[in-house]
Amino acid sequence: METEQKIGVDVDITINIANDEHVGYVQTILDTIEAAAKVRGTGIAKRSPEYVELKIKEGKAIIALAGKEFAGFCYIETWGNKQFVANSGLIVVDKFRGHGLAKKIKQMAFALCRARYPEAKVFGLTSGAAVMKINTELGYVPVTFAQLTDDEAFWRGCQGCKNHDVLERTDRKYCICTAMLYDPATHKDKPVIKDLVKQIRKEEKINNKQK
Ligand SMILES: CC(C)(COP(=O)(O)OP(=O)(O)OC[C@H]1O[C@@H](n2cnc3c(N)ncnc32)[C@H](O)[C@@H]1OP(=O)(O)O)[C@@H](O)C(=O)NCCC(=O)NCCS
Repeated sequence: METEQKIGVDVDITINIANDEHVGYVQTILDTIEAAAKVRGTGIAKRSPEYVELKIKEGKAIIALAGKEFAGFCYIETWGNKQFVANSGLIVVDKFRGHGLAKKIKQMAFALCRARYPEAKVFGLTSGAAVMKINTELGYVPVTFAQLTDDEAFWRGCQGCKNHDVLERTDRKYCICTAMLYDPATHKDKPVIKDLVKQIRKEEKINNKQK
């Protein structure tokens, strides 16, 4: 699925659910995430090229391109026996920032979560104001860490963060990041998300028929 966005820069940006054609972007994606983490002075969850490639091949990633140039990325992952789903690895290339691209990428990633795992709670951990804003618009609310998944594999992802000692010291109850959660039992999707979910399901039906 592909949507074309005008986001206030001079080029048209396409936002796609990534597929095999995008595997060649893996190293650029990882380099961009790492460089941004250095600038922010944060640690990052360790992601191998193989892991990101798998996400792309499984259709669990969103990629934004300006022509062929990499502009942004995000992927989804499930935890706790698919009771929880999270968007991770959100990144927008410096020169495309400040025009609403992250918001569009997150909308698509969120819609992908809602289309594939309609019963799952969608959550995220973030220390960034932009992501808090975007999440709030999508219907996430701040929660305590106890309301997130207890899947050990998820929490191991925090080990690469320079604030991990805080998490350990507090028995995983508190840390620097804000936990945010969207519970489908108590929240309603915005029309823009409902439309994206419909489009994703329709395309997946067509693709499944063609297989
Ligand atoms: C965070 C990031 C993805 C934002 O990308 P972006 O395309 O510039 O974001 P958007 O333009 O879609 O902004 C979304 C909202 O956040 C706000 N925002 C953007 N950057 C912000 C910042 N640094 N501080 C506060 N608010 C910010 C925008 O004003 C916008 O709000 P609005 O809808 O009320 O206007 C980008 O800066 C980035 O890649 N940073 C490095 C990696 C990172 O921090 N990832 C998030 C990990 S949780």
